[in-house]
Amino acid sequence: MIYLDNHATTPCDPRVAQQMMPWLVEHFGNPHSTSHEMGRQAKSAMDAALASVASQLAVAADAVLITSGATESNNLAIDGVCRHPRQRRRHVVTSTIEHPAVLDVVARLEKDGFRVTRVPVHPQDHPLAGQIDLEPLAAAVDDDTALVSVHWANNEIGVIQPMSQIAALAHQAGALVHSDATQAVGRIAVDLQRVDVDLISASAHKFYGPKGVGLLTTAGGVPRRRVRLKPMIVGGGQQRNLRSGTMAPANVIALATALDLAVAESSQVARRVGELQLRLWDGLQQGIDGICLNGPTLESSMRLEGNLNCRLPGIEGESWMAACSEVAFSSGSACSSVDAKPSHVLTGLGLSESEARRSVRFGIGKFNTSEQIDRAIEILVAGYRSLA
Ligand SMILES: Cc1ncc(COP(=O)(O)O)c(C=O)c1O
Repeated sequence: MIYLDNHATTPCDPRVAQQMMPWLVEHFGNPHSTSHEMGRQAKSAMDAALASVASQLAVAADAVLITSGATESNNLAIDGVCRHPRQRRRHVVTSTIEHPAVLDVVARLEKDGFRVTRVPVHPQDHPLAGQIDLEPLAAAVDDDTALVSVHWANNEIGVIQPMSQIAALAHQAGALVHSDATQAVGRIAVDLQRVDVDLISASAHKFYGPKGVGLLTTAGGVPRRRVRLKPMIVGGGQQRNLRSGTMAPANVIALATALDLAVAESSQVARRVGELQLRLWDGLQQGIDGICLNGPTLESSMRLEGNLNCRLPGIEGESWMAACSEVAFSSGSACSSVDAKPSHVLTGLGLSESEARRSVRFGIGKFNTSEQIDRAIEILVAGYRSLA
């Protein structure tokens, strides 16, 4: 199997798994039971890992919350800000192409009486294809806007959003800014001293860490705005009462190790996966007449390296996938491929339902090789020809 679905998840780097292991098996103390040495040992290792995560994102150590992943972080950020008892504002702004872990939270707020604006993105034929349209965004934010939530990078078409400009518009209206940075953290620079976003969500399994651990930052760099969050999970009062439950030192250490490695290796990995992305695209274009790219051009700095989303002439993405079972890729996001609806990201780009159904996503990762890409091209082209 050739794995080309690294936006859905990445394999855990063996160096990360190795760092985790002793904290599962040998040093298993509860980091909140600090009345004895085993608890204190777990706590101090976990605190060091938290400090390292905070410094990689350029936030204070007390501004990082550990969660079960980006879905929980997005829920806590959006519901937490909007449903806080002292929140007076009743309007939320987001984009049309967010992950369901944002869109569904916002839709639930709407049902509960919040006003929601979903700002469109530039269409496929625009030079800024996939980026949020800043004009309707500026028109939407007002003194009733509690939160603007826009993802840093998209999981289907890899488009990177202009977060500094989005944040400036939101802050002018006194709103807080959340960004689902799940596809960005570990792939591109996310420095909250430079980009003034108040809350970001991320997930370790997207940058070669384990599944089931993520983070939410609860304050940006400078200036540090007041973020009041209503907790979703209550209990023992861990994590400053914002997310109760015994913390897992092994997971936090894995998250920190994965992030350290991802940041240290990011330019080298970006260069390699960028080359493989072009190799794949060249091979597909040579083998399949009329195949088109969805989202920004591959040369654009607005697109994540390693992401390829393309549209086939005449054949549905699902059929192509079935004909190429030795290659793991997807016909949308991991989540939207569960239901039969065409991708809202692609229809948000202005593609028709039929065009969206004829589209697939590849995500190239750091463990892929040029030999794998060449073999994948052979399989994909042969699979397409068997259907066309
Ligand atoms: C942009 C984005 N947000 C949120 C999620 C959900 O992340 P998790 O699996 O950590 O809950 C994903 C994963 O597919 C994603 O790509």
